[in-house]
Amino acid sequence: MTDRNEQGLARGLTNYGDRDFSVYLRNSFAASMGYSRDVLKKPIVGIANSFSGFNNCHRHFPELVEAVKRGVLLGGGLPIEFPTISLGEVFLNPTSLKFRNLMSMDTEEMIRAQPMDAVVLIGGCDKTVPAQLMGAASADLPAVQLVAGPMMTSRYGEERLGACTDCRRFWGKYRAGEITTDQINDIEGRLATTAGTCAVMGTASTMACIAETLGMSLPGTAAIPAVHADRLRAAEASGMAAARMIANPIRPSQVITERSVENALRMLLALGGSTNAIIHLTAVAGRLGIKVALERLNELSDTTPVLVNLKPVGSHYMEDFFHAGGVGAVLRELKPLLHLDTIDVTGETLGDRLEKDPGYVDHRVIAKASAPLEPQGGLVALFGNLAPRGAILKRSAADKNLFEKEGRAVVFSSLEDLATRVDDPDLDIAEDDFMVLQNAGPKSASGMPEAGYLPIPKKLSTQGVKDMVRISDARMSGTAFGTIVLHVTPEASVGGVLALVRTGDRIRLSVAKKSIELLVDETELERRRAEWAPSVQPLEERRGYDRLYAAEVTQADEGCDFAFLQPVGKTDDDIEESSR
Ligand code: FES
Repeated sequence: MTDRNEQGLARGLTNYGDRDFSVYLRNSFAASMGYSRDVLKKPIVGIANSFSGFNNCHRHFPELVEAVKRGVLLGGGLPIEFPTISLGEVFLNPTSLKFRNLMSMDTEEMIRAQPMDAVVLIGGCDKTVPAQLMGAASADLPAVQLVAGPMMTSRYGEERLGACTDCRRFWGKYRAGEITTDQINDIEGRLATTAGTCAVMGTASTMACIAETLGMSLPGTAAIPAVHADRLRAAEASGMAAARMIANPIRPSQVITERSVENALRMLLALGGSTNAIIHLTAVAGRLGIKVALERLNELSDTTPVLVNLKPVGSHYMEDFFHAGGVGAVLRELKPLLHLDTIDVTGETLGDRLEKDPGYVDHRVIAKASAPLEPQGGLVALFGNLAPRGAILKRSAADKNLFEKEGRAVVFSSLEDLATRVDDPDLDIAEDDFMVLQNAGPKSASGMPEAGYLPIPKKLSTQGVKDMVRISDARMSGTAFGTIVLHVTPEASVGGVLALVRTGDRIRLSVAKKSIELLVDETELERRRAEWAPSVQPLEERRGYDRLYAAEVTQADEGCDFAFLQPVGKTDDDIEESSR
């Protein structure tokens, strides 16, 4: 265990059974990198760099790292960069979520194993920020989160394009035969044209806003575009803040508390943010023994207005959100609902932050609380016999005409089954039916991909059908929209009721009652349960990380973290203490 009184290179020595020899050897090897003796006496700020050639969103990280280093040096520390796993959303099979916990373990263990007194975490693409926050929370060393910042938008004719809501919008038009192959090829080259994360309020942007609201990023930094000079200034300031934290350590356990997690949930709801963020925030909080209950999400959702007019819910992009006032402007509108005694990585309370001059706020992008876009929050948890432990609906991105509805289930037993049959002209399906996808949850072979946005069957989309009720144990991209019930828990692969649904069953959805019910009596369900057999590959036939994941991943309501990464021996008193 690291002696917290040791600093810099003398922290966490390699064990040769002779402490002085360990110091001598480490100094000698560090000197081989060209550092002077004076420099090697300084406290160290590690820089967790998730750059990768397989991550387009992080392609500007070399420049950010240089700016962080500058800030660390100005703050009196020695910056030392180290690589971690990177997760480029669209480059990973079967889905990036499967590797979030691996990246969190890499981040945690490398923070713990290497000699550093504080750390700057540089991430951005969807799963990287949650992974870094999870790792930092478990390591509990002073840490500052620096995000990549969003991409800039592009143009196609008179249209403004930004990944990835417009990716889906144009793909839907292509599937419906409204645009040609030449046009979709042209659009493909214009959707993502700069460094940075997706340009809308998708998962990456939502997590950036959550990191700032939790207090783990510097105030005002979440929404700065990736290519803006302010992003480099934010990097420099993050490096300096981390160096300054060494003298007055503020640990993640002091920043991420029950109260700051509630503030983050309010932010998520006011943003109309990504459904994925519920899973990620649950996992981050879980690392400190803080539980995020979906019942509490509903209470907060009923009293938190949607304020941010960004795609996929609204009409603007992240660069507009930045110029409109960003996270600070949203927090000011939410102020009466927030816990103002939470602190950020600088030690400042949220209340003190919000006393400062807000600067210019564009209320076309960030609505006033007195005139919200929606009076209630963007996300709602549904419960019922189909989802005893909950399911999520992003009501702000759904068709309200479908909120109180009963329909006939049309079941797809897996992603493969969906791909094979969804565009079959003979598929027995109508606009009023409910599409149901099974076996796409965390323990399924597909690892809970963003497949909950089931494509509208071609025979219906070509007739102009734009939305249908779709139900699954999968996730949905933060950039998608539709009446989509996700994260059904327990999932089908562990024998949840979702596994028992058959084509022709009736399902009732009521957003007003926050319920999702399979209208099949319990005797019949018991009969089907007795016939059910798991379709996942048995553990003994799997190896490596795939086996570890299948054995340890928790359900969506527990954040899809690994059970063994939860804190050990935390008493309720400890948790209460950390939440003060
Ligand atoms: Fe990286 Fe969207 S692909 S944030």
